[in-house]
Amino acid sequence: PRTVALVPAAGRGLRMGGHIPKQFLALGGRPILAQSLLVLQASPLIHEIILAVPQSERQYCLDHIVATGEFSKVTKVVPGGVQRQDSVRHALAEVSQETEIVLVHDAVRPFLTEDMIRRVVAAAVEHGAAIIALPMRDTVKYVGAGGVIERTVDRRPLWLAQTPQAFRRDWLEEGHHKALLAGVQATDDAHLVELIGKPVVVVEGSGENIKVTRPEDLVIGEAILNSRTA
Ligand code: CTP
Ligand code: MG
Repeated sequence: PRTVALVPAAGRGLRMGGHIPKQFLALGGRPILAQSLLVLQASPLIHEIILAVPQSERQYCLDHIVATGEFSKVTKVVPGGVQRQDSVRHALAEVSQETEIVLVHDAVRPFLTEDMIRRVVAAAVEHGAAIIALPMRDTVKYVGAGGVIERTVDRRPLWLAQTPQAFRRDWLEEGHHKALLAGVQATDDAHLVELIGKPVVVVEGSGENIKVTRPEDLVIGEAILNSRTA
């Protein structure tokens, strides 16, 4: 099925701090965004990539990412929005009607693999919507007022959502449309498909598929890269 990847890369990286948004920081000598794009570009399942970037960095991205020719699948670079959801919606608006599956992947998860793409797209083709996720490993506490534990939560049904996430195009469009009308703000796209009452299945990911969020994640990221090339 024709599959388009949307890559939200328009955040400001407030939790990382610093002046350069984290997707443009180097990991293994290349911008994190480029590391993520390499995997999507190399996947035979992905036909096209649409990037959402900060308006202020759009020209930089056109010159240094699109113009190099290395990422020939990147067909469009759109300005992002205030929230991640807005950035994804802007990119989704550029997806052609012939597209059957839309895969959404955060620019700041550079350790996705071809295997994850295959499994999440296959599950989306079969079930309509699927996400890469990780079962909780730690004991989970519900903490109330004053920092006092109220109870220990059963972790068995709890999963941590990652990307890539893949959806039937019409479901993702309907979810974004409904969220916009209802004023719902979500931090992932599966949430919006859940909103329209469609089932979203989980596909087990990997602990290596970290989201580069805080400064220590850069250190962890370099270690993951080194372990892969060793
Ligand atoms: N993102 C985006 N547009 C936004 C906000 C986020 O495209 N308005 C993207 C980020 O660039 C990132 C992904 O969504 O690739 C996941 O978001 P997150 O890790 O929260 O990144 P930031 O929002 O940049 O970081 P922070 O929340 O710490 O400010
Ligand atoms: Mg954010």
